[in-house]
Amino acid sequence: MKKCALLLVVVTVLAFVFGGAAFAADKKIVVGFAQIGAESDWRVANTKSIQDACAEAGIDLRFVDGQQKQENQIKALRDFITQGVDVIGFSPVVESGWDEVIEEINDAGIPLILSDRTTDIKGDDYYVTWMGSNFIEEGRNAGKWLVEYLKKQGRNKEQINIVELQGTVGSGPAIDRQKGFVEVIAENPNLKITQSQTGDFTRDLGRTVMESFLKKGEKIDVLYAHNDDMALGAIQAIKEAGRKPGKDIIIIGIDGVKAAFEAIAAGEYNCTVECNPLLGPQFVDAVKKLAAGETLPKITYSIEGVYDETTAKEALPTRQY
Ligand code: AHR
Repeated sequence: MKKCALLLVVVTVLAFVFGGAAFAADKKIVVGFAQIGAESDWRVANTKSIQDACAEAGIDLRFVDGQQKQENQIKALRDFITQGVDVIGFSPVVESGWDEVIEEINDAGIPLILSDRTTDIKGDDYYVTWMGSNFIEEGRNAGKWLVEYLKKQGRNKEQINIVELQGTVGSGPAIDRQKGFVEVIAENPNLKITQSQTGDFTRDLGRTVMESFLKKGEKIDVLYAHNDDMALGAIQAIKEAGRKPGKDIIIIGIDGVKAAFEAIAAGEYNCTVECNPLLGPQFVDAVKKLAAGETLPKITYSIEGVYDETTAKEALPTRQY
């Protein structure tokens, strides 16, 4: 009996050290998921995808909506440790300030799966796998689309003023989408970001901040928004100011949600760079592989496209979110 117990301890320790499961596959798997909030259509689709995939796989999902507040997510993570869940899934609202709670998760031996966003903690030992989008590439794709579009319009020598609606301050996508976009426009001296402010990834703030950009009375040629929701809010403000979105002001957003496709089809939106929220099946696959003791890749990037008036209409009927 004693030998059996010892063997079990050794197997468990080895499995954890080599990235395998520390939980039994013969009982219902319990997963805690600390979500950011419900700030955008993207996030709502992401939550549904995770909940549906877990339900289908018979996983006991303990889901917490952090309402875009870091302290709520930290509390949820600590509660998951207390509950002794088998796996923790986590999408951090901002990049910094997680060291302590993640150390607690690691000390408790609970495998951590990062989904969508990451943290600024050095190294990659603290999580087993991360799945999501390459946010820098998304920013680059937005910039590249603009450069090409202006060329086609014969405006590539014109001085172009861009206003930017940033995502949540300190979040991975806000930092990286700005970085990627700026990198591309820096090669084009006629393109200049003249105003930039956060809209926290929400429609309401997108509209309010765009109103204040417009009130300054400066020339605005392009709006670059770090997500579709902010762009859609801004479109409202542009219309209320008596200007034509998509024509007087070029609109570029990120996510590729259905509402953005509809706005493109209506001629009020020019380009959306896709960011795939349907991470549920991948997340569940990772949980199952962990339970089976398999080693997971550290990073899995989603494959994503860029949609504009030439492609959005055709893709609209099959758009899931
Ligand atoms: O982290 C992904 C981003 O978060 C999406 O682009 C945005 O809409 C969401 O709120």
